Amino acid sequence: MKILVTGGTGYIGSHTVVELLKDGYEVEILDNLANSKASVVDVIEELTGIKPKFHQVDLLDKEATKKVMQEGGFDAVIHFAGLKAVAESVEQPLRYYENNIIGTLNLLAAMKDAGVKRLVFSSSATVYGDPGKNAYTEDLPTGQNIASPYGKTKYMIEEILKDEAVADPEFEVMLLRYFNPIGAHESGKLGEDPNGRPNNLMPIIMKVAKGEYPELSVYGNDYPTKDGTCVRDYIHVVDLAKGHLAALKNMKPGVKIYNLGSGKGTSVLEMIAAFEKASGEKLPYKIAERRAGDLPEFYAVPTKALEELGWKTELTIEDAMNDTIKYLNNF
Ligand code: WQD
Repeated sequence: MKILVTGGTGYIGSHTVVELLKDGYEVEILDNLANSKASVVDVIEELTGIKPKFHQVDLLDKEATKKVMQEGGFDAVIHFAGLKAVAESVEQPLRYYENNIIGTLNLLAAMKDAGVKRLVFSSSATVYGDPGKNAYTEDLPTGQNIASPYGKTKYMIEEILKDEAVADPEFEVMLLRYFNPIGAHESGKLGEDPNGRPNNLMPIIMKVAKGEYPELSVYGNDYPTKDGTCVRDYIHVVDLAKGHLAALKNMKPGVKIYNLGSGKGTSVLEMIAAFEKASGEKLPYKIAERRAGDLPEFYAVPTKALEELGWKTELTIEDAMNDTIKYLNNF
């Protein structure tokens, strides 16, 4: 099978391309390099022996997107490309709606023109908004009290895909709702390396560890959780990547929805301790004010993905920290 991976030079996209190539898929990448580097394609070749064809294209360029789709002969698309900085989306909502929604609509138009009927979409647990419980199952309502425009774009794209699946009975959609991706490839050659100032916990911890930031600010320790700091379901990016292969192998007409998480919650203080254990050094941090929009605790109930896709996480927080340290030491 031949797969087009949008956002394939990004953090999750590049790890997914590696797993696809290792599993014998033919892959091409479409990416505008807004949050990644073209050199990632060379690393993918180094890790797999295969250099996927790379199209430096912005999904907002409708004609260029159509051309890639027309010429590619793809069997399916995995759609990662999108802006994903939560805080930035609050400051720049129109940029996020244009980039994520219009970009996806252009992709769907190109797929329709080319007769490509399978799409795996990179969604997020953020679509559940604030559901009033910590353990997230796929049947929870979505779209209510989503804290950021970023999260709302994920929800809106899900709704667009559901509507298209009604209009076109041959359309096959997988909505994969990620929890908190962390870690790096075991080689230490591929990892999370966002352009600009990161928002997420692990890339910020990495910057503190490298001395680029003086200390980590822990956003609040007065939450109703095990140690007062927020609890999240951190999933190793390689496990997440493998979840996309499991999804590809189980596609059928209609919309299928899966939470991709470990099913376990880890607090910010526990993440700091795990990083310190892996690095062998203390990580400087201070307790700071809560961050607007943060929920105290949520994690996946990953039963459905196991039962229907035969997928579950196999790597641990410790594996993710060890792989992150290897990646840090390479740069
Ligand atoms: C994790 C925890 C922070 C930074 C978001 C998106 C989600 C997904 C992952 C986008 C929180 C705390 C963080 C820091 C801290 N997709 N923290 N100090 O907010 O759970 O989820 O990112 O990438 O869709 O919503 O992830 O990594 O930002 O925060 O204390 O400097 O770490 O308060 O509790 P989040 P995060």
